[in-house]
Amino acid sequence: MPTPHENLTTRVAQRRRYLMCRPEHFTVSYSINPWMEPSRPTDTAKAVRQWQALHDAYVELGHEVELIDPVPGLPDMVYTANGGFIVDGRALGVRFRVDERRGEERPFMDWFDGHGFEVVEPVEVQEGEGDFLLVGDTILAGTGFRSVGDSHRELAAVFGREVVSLRLVDPRFYHLDTAITVLDPVEGVGGVERANIAYLPSAFDEESRRVLAERYPDAIQVTDADGAVFGLNAASDGRHVFVSPRATDFAAQLEARGYVPVPVDLSELLLGGGGIKCCTLELRGGAR
Ligand code: ARG
Repeated sequence: MPTPHENLTTRVAQRRRYLMCRPEHFTVSYSINPWMEPSRPTDTAKAVRQWQALHDAYVELGHEVELIDPVPGLPDMVYTANGGFIVDGRALGVRFRVDERRGEERPFMDWFDGHGFEVVEPVEVQEGEGDFLLVGDTILAGTGFRSVGDSHRELAAVFGREVVSLRLVDPRFYHLDTAITVLDPVEGVGGVERANIAYLPSAFDEESRRVLAERYPDAIQVTDADGAVFGLNAASDGRHVFVSPRATDFAAQLEARGYVPVPVDLSELLLGGGGIKCCTLELRGGAR
């Protein structure tokens, strides 16, 4: 059982700034991942209600949420994590692998440009923060299903940071943010690296599992059952972890380490193959 009194004081929430998109046009009209079944009915009003609960949970815990206007005919635009990757006020746009989402590329880049970010137009195919995760000073970058390996080189050149490539092997976990949660992305005091993650080992090939085990010996390894309910598609501010209520073991593991799970149910958005993190793009730096 958790021992909160021992750990809670060590977990510090950091104020985040997120970009979200209200799922006013959400539906599943095509299938580009194993979760999407166009024959299955979707309930847009329910998607909006669930999304609103996530939005409100962020705001209540002190985070700033920016909104991009949803575009009719782009039902996946709610998954803003795929809209770009932003560090230090510089926004790398995306180039979707899948044609169905290419119409989102320009609206996202225009939003970044209009909000004081320096926009870099991408050359290689990649799907933004869905596949790129900042952990401390390092960017973990996924490939295997959507983002191509060459985009990792481009990423390193654009941001001048170390990029660690990881290969996804299970089609259900086709973006990196479905298989890794960044729990504590900040550096600790005195140069101590506190950045830590949780991940789903079975989503990665052997070499990537070796890299993850070596770099993050203290990581939470999440069960296949919690992975299968998109438990890893979670957002953390360093203390609160916004996570699916169905990922029960993961929540217990988080509590045992002094994090505070904040359950948010996005079951309707899971019909499109997305969850909490998919609906959340972190805006780092840039003018207000
Ligand atoms: N239907 C979307 C797609 O397949 C879901 C995207 C989920 N986003 C994410 N960051 N994992 O592209």
